[in-house]
Parts: sequence; C-alpha cells; structure tokens
Amino acid sequence: PSSTRRTATGEMSIGGVAVTDLAATVGTPVYLVDEDDMRARARRMREAFTDAAGRVGTDAEVYYAGKAFLSRAVARWMVAEGLRIDTASLGELTTALEAGVEGALIGLHGNNKSDAELDLAIERGVGRIVVDSLPEVDRVARVAAVAGVVAPVMLRVTTGVHAGGHEFISTAHEDQKFGLSIHAEDERGQSPAMRALHAILSRPELDLIGIHSHIGSQILDATGFTAAAAALVELRAALERETGHLVGELDLGGGIGVAYLPGEDEPDVAAFARSIVDAVAQACRDTDTPVPHLSFEPGRSIAAPAGITLYTVGTIKDVRLEDGGHRRYVAVDGGMGDHIRTALYGAEYHAELVSRASAAAPVLCRVVGKHCESGDIVVRDVMLPGDIAAGDLLAVAATGAYGRSMASTYNLVPRPGVVAVREGTATTIVRRESVADLLALDLG
Ligand code: LLP
Repeated sequence: PSSTRRTATGEMSIGGVAVTDLAATVGTPVYLVDEDDMRARARRMREAFTDAAGRVGTDAEVYYAGKAFLSRAVARWMVAEGLRIDTASLGELTTALEAGVEGALIGLHGNNKSDAELDLAIERGVGRIVVDSLPEVDRVARVAAVAGVVAPVMLRVTTGVHAGGHEFISTAHEDQKFGLSIHAEDERGQSPAMRALHAILSRPELDLIGIHSHIGSQILDATGFTAAAAALVELRAALERETGHLVGELDLGGGIGVAYLPGEDEPDVAAFARSIVDAVAQACRDTDTPVPHLSFEPGRSIAAPAGITLYTVGTIKDVRLEDGGHRRYVAVDGGMGDHIRTALYGAEYHAELVSRASAAAPVLCRVVGKHCESGDIVVRDVMLPGDIAAGDLLAVAATGAYGRSMASTYNLVPRPGVVAVREGTATTIVRRESVADLLALDLG
C-alpha cells in the first residue's frame, strides 16, 4: 500500500500505524487495508474510465466487484468515491444494501442465481441483473411480473476471448459455465447469445439495458479487452439490424491485473481504459453505430494492492534437500485458511520481515501455515534475513483481494479480521472470528 513506511529501527508502519502496535492490539494473523490507498485506487479507476469515455463522447460507470473483498465499510468507501457495487450472491447483495447503497447503484451477477437473490434484487430495485443463461430469462421475467415491475437486465455473453492468469479465473473462452456464446451453434446460424437477446426483448417484464462480457482476471495487457469490445459492438449492431433495438450499454467486466511481486510493473490504468474505450469507439465507427454507455467491474485492481496480511512467525525448520541444499520452512500463525491463492492457483507472493531491521544475510525460505497439509504454502520462495525467529512479524503484500473473501475455516481455524488503517488510526471493519463463533454453528 502507498502508506507503507519503515522507521529508523526497521519497523514497518501502514496508514501511520506501527505493525507491532497492531499486532499487540488486534493480534495476528490479520488483514490490514490501507483505506486511503484503496479509495484512491477506486477514484483513479473511475476517473480513468470516465475520462476515456468522455474523449469518445460517452460516459462510463465503474462497479467495484465485491467478490474481491466486500464489507459494509468497503461498500460505503466505493460509493463515496463515485463507484457502484457489483454483487454475485445474496451475501454480497445484502452487504451492499445494508451499507446503505441504493439498489439502483448495485448490479447482480451469478450463473445460478437463487430465488432469494432474484427476489431481493427485484424488491430493492437493483440497477441491473446480469442474465447468464436462457432459463434465467424466464425466471427473472416471472419474478418481475409478480412484483409488477420491469426488470433492467443485461446479458452476459462469451466472446471466445481468453485472457488473464490461471485457467480457473479465465472465464470467457467457450468451454465453461458463464454466459452465452456469441458464436453460431444451431442450424439457423443463430448464436446462443443472440437467441437469449431475442428472448429478453420478447418479454415485456424485462428491459434489455446492456450486454456484458468478462474475459478473465489478472490481465496485464489490454489486447483481450479490445478484442472483446469489438465483438460486443458487433453483436449490438447485429441485434439492432435484426430487431431495431439498440442496446444502450456495454459492460466489459473486470480483470485488470496487479503487481504481486516487488519489481513487477502495475498496468497503467489510464492507458488500459483508453485502449478499451478507443476499441469500442473504433468498432462503432466500423459498424456505423453510436457509441454506447460503458461500464466496468474491476475488483482486484482496486483491492489487492491496498491490503497486506500480517503474521507472527512460529516454528522454523531447516529441511535438507536431495541436492544437498537446505530449505528453511518459516511457519506463520495462519496459512491456507486465510490465504488460499498460492495453493489454489500457484500464485506468487512476497513476504517481508516487518517488525525490525536485520543485517543478517538473506536465506531462501518458504513461508508455510499451520494447517494440516503440505500444500499449505503462503509464499513458495522468498529471501528472508537468516536470523528470522519466532515472534517476528511477517507481512505478505497485495492480499487485499481474494484473501479474506476466499478464506475458509479449514482445521476449524477461525478466520482473521480486517483492520482498516488511515492517518494513524486503526479501525476493525470485520471482526476476527473466534472458536466460539465456529462452535455456535455446531449444534452438538
Ligand atoms: N466481473 C465479473 C463478472 C467477474 O466474474 C469478476 C471476477 C470480476 C468482475 C472482477 O474481476 P477482477 O477485476 O477482480 O479480476 N478468485 C480468483 C479471481 C476470480 C475472479 C472471478 N471473477 C483469484 O483469486 O484470482
């Protein structure tokens, strides 16, 4: 985070709060989020897209993807910075609403939405329900009919563009569960996406406000977005030719990547935004259609770099390797329960000793957790001072997205809380779970 500093004694502070004070008062492991940094990233993202859109004569909305990390405080920060909230479950939707976010500023996603999700979305007037399948057209129409409203919907399509990091998080190639393909599949040459667009237009209970595509996550190059943008514009133009209906908005989803390791470059958000928006404008010129309203759904790029996880070092073990070398296993008081991305995706992270300075020569370490499996790795390879010892504090960087939100209670280890730091003040925004919390769910 931008507010990270080192004192003369080598101790780190974040948001003006010393990590040793935090560890003493709130305990470890704990997720720390630099509120000003996260808000500044949100603001820059909104400005980047609205500026880029303004240059081609349209406007843009940025929806913060709550799956990256959502709490009521975070929802309020995002709305205060001029963003809206993208939700993908009853929990995310309810959290945004309970934060006081107006329904109109919320979007709802999901490939298998529950009745409870659709009912709440319609009852609270969410600004858009992103339809993800043909059966869902009927389901949303029925819920809207019962409520006596016209539901604003987008259709999520897949363009065949495949971008981003690990296979599990690359969502827009064809053989996966999300959205409807824009490529022809049936004998009449109509694509599943086009068929669903026609179905939506035939329902008076639905207002087709847009077309949506999300091509993947942790994307570091805008090319995939520009290809998807052109495909969406062409689909919109084809729908207008067939039906006379010109869809008002295109949503290019989220997926902008971040730097996880020291020395990695962060994508330039403003340049990214300009490339995507310019590709839309170009495709509109090519198809002779007006430039649509635009929207985007970044999560990781707003949340990840603003957060770190603070751990206390426990057991240290040197293991002899077959090649005669050693690996130092540095075990911390959390692990794959609060940090699953290394085990799940082979994601790379960086850890640092943050409670003191050390002049000891660095040694190659593996930071592991306290869970009962050998895949419980937080940082696979990292150089740490050779005098690292029990009681030292380690910080793992860029854990603000998909950290707390993907945490589990494996081994009945309670999940850490989240503390926001800002101008020397620490505020707990998500309380640490306790064993009593876990036992409260256990009915004996
Ligand atoms: N919009 C939609 C429809 C999405 O499916 C996603 C992410 C986003 C927006 C936000 O993408 P972002 O800007 O955060 O990349 N758990 C994985 C990431 C899964 C992303 C799924 N969808 C991870 O830890 O890398």
